[in-house]
Amino acid sequence: MLSYQVYKILHLVSLFGVFMCLGALVIHHMNGGAKHFPARMWLVLSFTIFMFLAFVGGFGLMARLGSGMQTWIYAKIALWLVIGAYMSLIARKPDWSKVHWFVLLVLGATGASVALYKPF
Ligand code: HEM
Repeated sequence: MLSYQVYKILHLVSLFGVFMCLGALVIHHMNGGAKHFPARMWLVLSFTIFMFLAFVGGFGLMARLGSGMQTWIYAKIALWLVIGAYMSLIARKPDWSKVHWFVLLVLGATGASVALYKPF
């Protein structure tokens, strides 16, 4: 099993990648980009791999903490599901791109706050 530090780097770097993909898609739509575009496969594939690695890193961290499935972990999983679905929301509602831009920051801040404060 890998160390806590390695899982944390995996978790965080994968999340950087996830937010990179979502931010790129928002800017694409702000530029009036089409629903289908040449780099779409690259974006969707990268996003899927980053989401998977963020999940692996998150559960690796949980195993290393030895705390088990506490309530805040369920909140993290719920957030992970919301972020996973958010890519299609960005594509479906391109007119809301400016809102998406800030919602993404709020989602990131929520993930960090839940992990740090473990409020429940
Ligand atoms: C399957 C979903 C997830 C699981 C199981 C999970 C689990 C964890 C665990 C166990 C930690 C370590 C907490 C500690 O060291 O005390 C952590 C840290 C962190 N998680 Fe997640 N997480 C998930 C999804 C997310 C998502 C979606 C985000 C962002 C939107 C996120 C952001 C963070 C951040 C920023 C940290 C580092 C906090 C610190 O510095 O200690 N996580 N996560």
